[in-house]
Amino acid sequence: MSRLVIVSNRVQIPSEKAPRAGGLAVALGAGLKPGTLWFGWSGKRGTGGRTPTLHEAQGVTYATIDLTDKEYHEFYVGFSNGALWPLLHYRLDFLDYFRHEYEGYRGVNAYFAETLLPLLNDDDLVWVHDYQLITTGAEMRERGAQHRIGFFLHIPFVPPEILDALPCGIPLLRALCAYDVVGFHIDDHKNAFLACVSAFLDVTPDEDGSFVYEGRRVQTMSDPIGIDAEDFAATAARSARGAEVRRIRESLFSRALVIGADRLDYSKGLPNRFRAFDQLLERFPEHRGTVSMLQVAARSREDVDRYQQLRRTLDRLVGDINGRYSEFDWIPIRYMTRALSRKTLAGFYRVARVGLVTPLRDGMNLVAKEYVAAQSSADPGVLILSRFAGAAYELRDALIVNPFDADEVAEAINQALTMELPERKERWQALREVVWAGTPERFTETFLAALRP
Ligand code: G6P
Repeated sequence: MSRLVIVSNRVQIPSEKAPRAGGLAVALGAGLKPGTLWFGWSGKRGTGGRTPTLHEAQGVTYATIDLTDKEYHEFYVGFSNGALWPLLHYRLDFLDYFRHEYEGYRGVNAYFAETLLPLLNDDDLVWVHDYQLITTGAEMRERGAQHRIGFFLHIPFVPPEILDALPCGIPLLRALCAYDVVGFHIDDHKNAFLACVSAFLDVTPDEDGSFVYEGRRVQTMSDPIGIDAEDFAATAARSARGAEVRRIRESLFSRALVIGADRLDYSKGLPNRFRAFDQLLERFPEHRGTVSMLQVAARSREDVDRYQQLRRTLDRLVGDINGRYSEFDWIPIRYMTRALSRKTLAGFYRVARVGLVTPLRDGMNLVAKEYVAAQSSADPGVLILSRFAGAAYELRDALIVNPFDADEVAEAINQALTMELPERKERWQALREVVWAGTPERFTETFLAALRP
């Protein structure tokens, strides 16, 4: 059997006590089999480390490389998170494009290809992940790689009218055609990609979503990533008996808890979410003093300007709402920008009557699935989910909302808070089935089945 080689910007080494970097690395880590090689950035900046550092844990080899300061700024802060991330989340107003940063991005992708190639066996299956590494496959091909190489995009893809705004949009599309398989979480993202290759590369995809570009057949597929629900449910049940859950329960004095947990990112729609909570208290005053919202917004990409601006906006907004509604013994919104451990969050999800997952755009959003997995069957909470999250295509029995409509979200929170137990159970049972079916192992297997020769 061929070896699987995973390539992603973030690498999750189990022995390292890294804070929760984001769903992607955690989800990939859950589906790893012994014998796999996982290659990526160490998360460190330095001048050394141009040759990979190797670690072994549970039969998996981890190979990591460092970035220089300049690479970090051009590749990670600049092009990946200042241009590609906003573009692919439909935020042209936040698109900060600089040609030298794109060149820095190309350079780091070439550096990934160059340092990875000597580690490969001829029959390895190479699986590259996410928007930071779009051109890695093309760089490998340029250096003669004959491997089967696949790519998976964990964030949305955009239609031609939007991609067109990015000055290097077409070169990036061409680079994607160096892969044998290009995967997305949902059909909408895949179809947007196919619309772009039809519009800009003049190819006509076949019925099955594959097409030929410059003599190479490129296959496309969509498959939603999942979580290890059984494990998350067990963690939540254990955590619910622990000290932190006891503390939060005591602090609530029997009030209902509404929870949100996200990276502090403008794609997550946090200002809209706070405005919706404001609307709830305004229009349904019976909830004043009887409900508390906890928003965990883990600081993220702090060197990117737009993230600093968002943090200031949120500080002001929370201060304003809390100032207007607080009583001396009740605060409507508890807001923290520190990350919580997976275990603590799992316990808090189980306690929360409502899980608020309302991104303006999101490739998948695994918090939605984790919230479902964490609930107790006897007294499950209600998931409120944005229709612009990839997860909404599967989790149809959540309360699906348009996050741009604060009134609609406020009404959904009210509906969730007043929902009777039988309806909560019925919705949760239906969600549970979906979440339990989509294991990380199944996700990996489906992609590899498409990638194998
Ligand atoms: C999202 C992206 C991932 C990324 C994660 C955390 O889930 O799809 O590729 O790793 O956010 O962001 P960071 O910039 O800290 O890696």
